[in-house]
Amino acid sequence: MATEAQVRQNLEEVLVPGAMRSLVRLNLVRDITVSNQKVDITLASVAMNSDVQDWLKGKVSDVTKKLPGVNEASVNFIEAKPNEVNDIGYVVAVMSGKGGVGKSLVAALLSIALARQGKGVGILDADITGPSIPKMFGLTGARPSGSDTGILPVLSRMGIGVMSINLVLEHEDDAVIWRGPLIGKAIQQFWEDVLWGQLDCLIVDLPPGTADAPLTVMQSIPVSGVVIVFTPQELAAMVVRKAMKMAKQMNVPILGVVENMSYFTLPDTGKRLELFGESKGDEMAKIAGASLLAQIPIDPELARLCDRGEIERYSSDVFDSLAQKFAEALPLKPKQTENV
Ligand SMILES: Nc1ncnc2c1ncn2[C@@H]1O[C@H](COP(=O)(O)OP(=O)(O)O)[C@@H](O)[C@H]1O
Ligand SMILES: [Mg+2]
Repeated sequence: MATEAQVRQNLEEVLVPGAMRSLVRLNLVRDITVSNQKVDITLASVAMNSDVQDWLKGKVSDVTKKLPGVNEASVNFIEAKPNEVNDIGYVVAVMSGKGGVGKSLVAALLSIALARQGKGVGILDADITGPSIPKMFGLTGARPSGSDTGILPVLSRMGIGVMSINLVLEHEDDAVIWRGPLIGKAIQQFWEDVLWGQLDCLIVDLPPGTADAPLTVMQSIPVSGVVIVFTPQELAAMVVRKAMKMAKQMNVPILGVVENMSYFTLPDTGKRLELFGESKGDEMAKIAGASLLAQIPIDPELARLCDRGEIERYSSDVFDSLAQKFAEALPLKPKQTENV
């Protein structure tokens, strides 16, 4: 007799049309019952129209009947909301005092670090008024698919799920002059109505600032930890203290701090120039009581990759060290093997 685990393993092969991820990875397999030669499979129909459901029914039945000893497979769909099936291990919010300090860049690098380690990762771009994540990943022409029961994030080249207001605006340059309540609503939808599926980690690119805008986001999404980004030229101590206060209010830990634009290395001599003032990385880490994840230099290659939408190609010693320290700071759930 076939086992439930064997059936599940075969379902790993079945990619959901438009999602490029399997039924299992999207956490849509709600029940598998094996009795004698018959297998009953229940799937959640989130983000699927009826054509997709019909196609999946045939495909699931085919791969299940491939198993020895199975001669009948029945596939049923149940309705569910995306946030009822989403299974997200950890939500990391990336925060900064002001715009232009490299917050989105750091959010992108953190997600790339996890994806290269084989983790399931998504980015929720909660910076509604200045969304820049899709551009960095070269996703500007992309549109999320789905149905009226849920939206699928757009996948980056390396498989990072991305949801951003830019992906749903008609033109990328459309000014987003939305007011607070509308913004809050969009973010809430990115959390509740998007089928993220099984993710080890969701990275949230918060709006800049340490006042209302990021706080509203943190209240509508169950954030598990925060990373703070600052530059040497800012009033970094103030930024870090305000962010700490906010994190404390929300009862979430600060996972680490990142200093961006720390220095510039002269190509000829290799000499380090602290263009924006003396580095404050260690001092800020101490104030935050968290680790210094990285001191990122001003790197023309980074700017070029961001502009070209090829941030996923970035590699450097600084990145490797950031990736390692972030993995150490992130208390990820052990991989689940059983999820019915
Ligand atoms: N360390 C860096 N080296 C070179 N360019 C950088 C660096 N950090 C940021 N940039 C550039 O600055 C731009 C703004 O960064 P971004 O992450 O969008 O800032 P924020 O999200 O804080 O507003 C990026 O698109 C990138 O081109
Ligand atoms: Mg940004």
